[in-house]
Amino acid sequence: MRILITGAAGNLGRGLTDRLLGQGRHRLVLSDLVPPPGLDDTVEFHQLDLQIGAGLETAARDCDLLVHLPAWHGVHSGTKTETDFWRLNVDGTFWALQAARANGIRRCVFLSSQSWHGHYEKYGFTKRIGEELLAYHHARHGLSYVAVRPHDFTPWSENWPQRYGVRLLHGGVDRDDVLDAVLAAIDHVQQTDDAELVLDATRPNVFTADQLQGWEHDPAGTLEPIFPGAAEAVQRYRLDISQRPTVAPDAGRAETGYAPSRHFGSFLERLMALQPDEARDLTCPY
Ligand SMILES: NC(=O)c1ccc[n+]([C@@H]2O[C@H](COP(=O)([O-])OP(=O)(O)OC[C@H]3O[C@@H](n4cnc5c(N)ncnc54)[C@H](O)[C@@H]3O)[C@@H](O)[C@H]2O)c1
Repeated sequence: MRILITGAAGNLGRGLTDRLLGQGRHRLVLSDLVPPPGLDDTVEFHQLDLQIGAGLETAARDCDLLVHLPAWHGVHSGTKTETDFWRLNVDGTFWALQAARANGIRRCVFLSSQSWHGHYEKYGFTKRIGEELLAYHHARHGLSYVAVRPHDFTPWSENWPQRYGVRLLHGGVDRDDVLDAVLAAIDHVQQTDDAELVLDATRPNVFTADQLQGWEHDPAGTLEPIFPGAAEAVQRYRLDISQRPTVAPDAGRAETGYAPSRHFGSFLERLMALQPDEARDLTCPY
């Protein structure tokens, strides 16, 4: 397939481009406001402003599938206005879908967010409308789509493992699992002519409600029988696990085969394999 990726220079776009080029199964057309760093000059790139939409129809020409990524998101909430959010997240999505329609693209993977659940937050509101735009193009123009809803992307790093681990208890998902989810969504929409699917790109749920009983009084003691060695790791690395883990939504896994594998237990294994002085508690950049 010939795949158009909008927002290719961003966090997810760079990782996705690398994964898809590595697979060697598809031809890529990239677009963004700025060129992706280290862009391979054999890959077609279109520099354009999605808020205006000019140039999108040229970028979409002869493509079979759109992966639409750009958005102001959680980290921009303090600096970007409601207007900014609307122009990129809503107008930008509308123009991208219209350019797809005009070029006969019938398949789309859209990056939504778990913030969709915060319906009347500045960010979640725009993801609600984004998904509505997909539903509209599905109903009116036969667009087959998957809306991927990730939690916060969380990359493993030996420099700030504490932050990574705690995020895998609530609100975060390993960045590689998000990339797995997007690839699973691409495969699903490639194979399905009439998809209208939500895929929760979230971490695996590794705790049962019974196992979490007593967490508020003794989190480390509650964890220990589930992941032996956890209590020592919590103490040694000063992990703040005071907040009880939440259950991550998991829609769309059966349909797409998305099987996230990075969770608090795999984090502990990775942490315990580090030399003690490797696990530095630096200020986390995300
Ligand atoms: N980062 C997260 O933790 C997270 C969590 C859940 C969902 N998401 C969603 O995933 C998607 C990708 O997130 P990300 O972290 O890769 O974002 P990012 O901010 O790293 O990248 C966004 C890209 O969009 C491009 N862009 C911005 N304005 C543009 C414009 N006017 N025209 C064209 N391109 C423009 C930027 O140059 C950038 O390359 C977003 O839709 C976001 O809402 C992100």
